[in-house]
Amino acid sequence: MTAEEQDRHRRLEWFRAARFGMFVHWGLYSQIGRHEWAMNRERIPLEEYEKLADTFRPLRCPARMWAELAVETGMRYIVMTTKHHEGYCLWDTKLTDYNSMKRGPGRDLVAEFVEAARQAGLRVGLYYSLNDWHHPDGRECLYDEGARKRFVEYTHGLVRELCSNYGKIDILWYDCPYPLGAEGWESERLNAMVRSLQPDILINNRSRIPEDFETPEQHITPAKGGRAWESCMTLNDSWGYTPIDRNYKNAWHVVRMLRQVASHGGNLLLNIGPAPDGSIPPVYREVFGQVGRWLQKNGAAIYDASDPMVQDWQATGDFTRKGNTAYFHCNRWPGSTLVIGGLETRVISVRYLGGPAVEFEQTAERLILKGLPMEAPDHLATVFEIQCDGEPRQRLSPLMRAPDEDLESWYKH
Ligand code: GLC
Repeated sequence: MTAEEQDRHRRLEWFRAARFGMFVHWGLYSQIGRHEWAMNRERIPLEEYEKLADTFRPLRCPARMWAELAVETGMRYIVMTTKHHEGYCLWDTKLTDYNSMKRGPGRDLVAEFVEAARQAGLRVGLYYSLNDWHHPDGRECLYDEGARKRFVEYTHGLVRELCSNYGKIDILWYDCPYPLGAEGWESERLNAMVRSLQPDILINNRSRIPEDFETPEQHITPAKGGRAWESCMTLNDSWGYTPIDRNYKNAWHVVRMLRQVASHGGNLLLNIGPAPDGSIPPVYREVFGQVGRWLQKNGAAIYDASDPMVQDWQATGDFTRKGNTAYFHCNRWPGSTLVIGGLETRVISVRYLGGPAVEFEQTAERLILKGLPMEAPDHLATVFEIQCDGEPRQRLSPLMRAPDEDLESWYKH
């Protein structure tokens, strides 16, 4: 390992163990309630959109409620949009008046956020959109070198403030590097500046250089080559507050996503879109609450169980693994008997995670769990802890797929 790789490895340690974080999309767009891209998609004129700054009236420190919910949900870090593509800055920046101190709340919302997150014991991430629909050079920078220089200066200045004014920041979460490339943004220089201010910070891959971790968006796809990764997902199909979008995932889906990231050593950054006043729409409380209760009981099968396991698909569930222990997460309950095919390793014991032993029989090709209740003990997923006498492996129908196709099986059910 080079010194740089070693340092990355060290900095990533907490992140790889954290597994689960909260993403918060909150800004002027929350007042519109039709997706954070409303300004762009509806071509809202700038003069009209800007007025939203003056009507932005958050409750007193909503970040405390988000941080509390994150902790209850079993999340270990939280990332907030400090500036989305709309260009409005949620902090007391000296570089533009279009900010939450000068217009609207009259408060530094980033300061409130960082403090609330820290108090709740969460790691802190700041999302920053490079793309900017408000700054006059935001678009011109692609065609006009003078505009690019000014805009890059502005961008570097804003990022410098975020990395200077709020103590230790754990993650810098860039987004939307459109319309420039790494050279245009001068990303190498930008991130070197960030690291000089925040030596332990993790930087995502969206300044057009790979940096510390990959960010698959709205899908769960492990990174190649052992790189750290984090899938960011919405609960409905929008990031910002969009009550007209009622296509919410339920807790069953969230638990399944957690299992999918865990079994490939990744993280899940699950989004909330607070209401304009910062309050949390009830649907998030409901779903996150269920997930949190499930994790309290079954966390061992998610947080630490990230060893890759050779496995194939089953209609009844799937595995995570830690060493010689396989955790079978049964999310479609079969009734009194559960059969898992193709487990090649000898099983020593089976129990409900954190509960009593389960009677079982093992033949060459089948593990049969017996005497189960007719109804699922946990509808989100009942976890069986299966101790094996070696690394558990499950292999079925080897002729049906190519060696690197194992992910496919996730999507079939
Ligand atoms: C996309 C969207 C943006 C959202 C981001 C989160 O880039 O443009 O609105 O903030 O995804 O990853």
